[in-house]
Amino acid sequence: MVFGRGDAHARVVFVGEQPGDIEDQKGLPFVGPAGHLLRRAVDEAGIDPAHIYITNAVKHFRFEMRGKRRLHKTPDRVHIEACRPWLVGEFALLHPEVVVPLGATAAKALLGPTFRVTQQRGRVLQWPATAQRPEDFPVEPAKLVATIHPSAVLRADDRDIAFDSLVADLRVVARVLR
Ligand code: URA
Repeated sequence: MVFGRGDAHARVVFVGEQPGDIEDQKGLPFVGPAGHLLRRAVDEAGIDPAHIYITNAVKHFRFEMRGKRRLHKTPDRVHIEACRPWLVGEFALLHPEVVVPLGATAAKALLGPTFRVTQQRGRVLQWPATAQRPEDFPVEPAKLVATIHPSAVLRADDRDIAFDSLVADLRVVARVLR
C-alpha cells in the first residue's frame, strides 16, 4: 500500500491514479518520473509546494509481468471502489481549498464514471457538490480543478505543448488560491 503524503493543512490536494513501479518500491507517491514532472509543473504554475498533499485514487501498483519488467496496468472500477474508503478517510482529515484530480482514473473516482477530463479540464468546479457521492466528503465547500495526468505529458508526441497545458490548468488552481 502506498498512502498519500504532504502537508496535513494542505491548501491543494492532488489525486493521482495509482503508485507506479518506483513508488511501489519506495512506498511513497509520485517519486518517479511523473512525480518529478508534476513538481516542475507545480513550481512553474506558482503553487507553493509546502502547501500541497499528494495521494492516489488506488493505493497499490497494478501491473503485469513482461519478462522481468513490471508494466503498469490501468486500475479497473473494482480497484477504485476497493480503495475508496482510504480516499474518503484522507479527505476526512484534510481541508483543502482546491482538489486536483490528475487524469481519468482520479477524476472518475471523485466525480463519477461520466466525467471527461478532456472536456472539463481547467474549469473551476464546486467541491464536494460535484462529487459522485458528496455525502462521502463532509468537508467545507471548496473548488475542484481537473487536469491531465503527468504521465500523459511524458507519453505525448509534443511534450512541451502537453506540459504547458498542464501548467495552464495549474495556474487556474494558483488563481483560486490567491
Ligand atoms: N502515477 C500516479 O498516478 N501516482 C503515482 O504515485 C505515481 C505515478
